[in-house]
Amino acid sequence: MNDFDWAALADMLELEGEAHSPYVQQAVEELRHLTGGAPRRILDIGSGPGVAACRLAQAFPRAEVVAVDGSPELLARAEERAARLGVRLRTRVAGFPEGIDGLGTADLVWTAQVVHHVGDQQDALGRLAGLLAPGGVLAVVEGEMRARSLPRDLGFGRPGLQARLDVAMAERFSRMRNELPGSVAVVEDWPGMLRAAGLAQVRSKTFLVDRPAPLDEGTRQSVRQSLERQRRMCTELLDAGDAATLDRLLDPADPAGIDRRADLFLLTAKTVHFGLRPEDGS
Ligand SMILES: C[S@@+](CC[C@H](N)C(=O)[O-])C[C@H]1O[C@@H](n2cnc3c(N)ncnc32)[C@H](O)[C@@H]1O
Repeated sequence: MNDFDWAALADMLELEGEAHSPYVQQAVEELRHLTGGAPRRILDIGSGPGVAACRLAQAFPRAEVVAVDGSPELLARAEERAARLGVRLRTRVAGFPEGIDGLGTADLVWTAQVVHHVGDQQDALGRLAGLLAPGGVLAVVEGEMRARSLPRDLGFGRPGLQARLDVAMAERFSRMRNELPGSVAVVEDWPGMLRAAGLAQVRSKTFLVDRPAPLDEGTRQSVRQSLERQRRMCTELLDAGDAATLDRLLDPADPAGIDRRADLFLLTAKTVHFGLRPEDGS
């Protein structure tokens, strides 16, 4: 079912979830408004280690919040996290999209960076919409702006490395999508796709994650893990000069490497697409 070994990415997903958490906080305020403030049941589909699911559980303490993922290892992380934070969280192992049909309905379904890992994205959105109780809200996080962390000129190597990494990752992303089982090409018009899934009052809102230099240690580690992953994924797409620059950045002993630089930052923007299941008969 999976295009990656997700459990092996647990640390990266948890650090990234924490580094990006300001956007979830902002989205929660939107969800409070859209759900009338008191959702009874919330599903986080593809929750990974549960950073957003725990935030939702904190924000809606009276709701039953269920973190759903294909990886039992990541759900174990989510449970540890919930216990540490003292929030009520249930977990369910389920493959996406086929496994979600038996999850029962919810007033809020949240799914972040998961739909693009499914071959038929429109079908996946239809199934997610099918989980909503009448009047329920679907929130889909997709189509983010790629994160920036590096100055254009690092003081070594050819300036503009981050822009070239973005191009290489976009190429890897297209290959990943083409290789997914049952891959279906679709115009990635997320609001249009939510409407095609039968949802109403669809709109998108983008939230900024702005962590200026100097970075706290957790965010710095998140940047490291992300660059290490890009290095692994883009080996054959980078020229030798850029590969050497990345290796130097990732060298813990290098004074100009990312563990020691004071000029690293984290800037990204996450788009959440919201849609409502119409009340029956409306
Ligand atoms: C990019 S991570 C996103 C994690 C989290 N939602 C976030 O925003 O940080 C994708 C998650 O979806 C899960 N996943 C991907 N494909 C899946 C599938 N076909 N069935 C079930 N879970 C899947 C992975 O295990 C992983 O936890």
